[in-house]
Amino acid sequence: MKNQVFYSVLMTIFFVTVGLGTYVPVEAVAAPPKNLQVFPKNTTKKVLKKKMKKMAAALDVQCDYCHNTRKMEEDTKHKKVARDMLRMTAAINKANFKGKDRVTCLTCHNGQKEPK
Ligand code: HEC
Ligand code: HEC
Repeated sequence: MKNQVFYSVLMTIFFVTVGLGTYVPVEAVAAPPKNLQVFPKNTTKKVLKKKMKKMAAALDVQCDYCHNTRKMEEDTKHKKVARDMLRMTAAINKANFKGKDRVTCLTCHNGQKEPK
């Protein structure tokens, strides 16, 4: 009986240790971005997703407005425009706001695909 308890404790320790050892963050498993030209190449999925959600919200669109959702790295017409817009927005902030994110997609778009 005593041996059985000892054995189960040992197994628990073993599995917890193995479990922790093989734990890999989801981000490392998912494929890294393939076609970043504006954001740094090593931008994490988490950061990228946050930025993407902000852009989509600013224009009140879904991901598929800019993406072929079966191939996110593919460049579409709107994705290319969005890239130019990212560069423009960064330039405005650099020239006028010491590089702080004061002007954003939302500033002009305010929930519209084409600002009025
Ligand atoms: C307004 C256009 C726009 C919308 C909406 C948008 N994206 Fe993007 N997305 C881009 C642009 C532009 C890039 C490329 C950025 C660069 O070149 O640095 C990109 C890149 C990506 C990438 C990297 C792909 C690769 O492998 O290179 C992922 C992943 C991604 N977007 C996910 C999303 C998700 C998820 C959503 C919806 C929540 C979304 N995007 C909505 C414009 C958009
Ligand atoms: C300084 C104002 C301004 C900012 C900031 C801005 N945009 Fe734009 N955007 C415009 C204007 C104006 C148009 C319409 C251009 C046209 O009709 O030729 C436009 C058009 C677009 C289009 C094309 C829409 C269509 O109907 O084809 C996309 C996509 C877009 N912007 C994405 C973005 C994203 C993403 C951001 C943030 C990174 C952003 N824009 C920031 C002013 C802005």
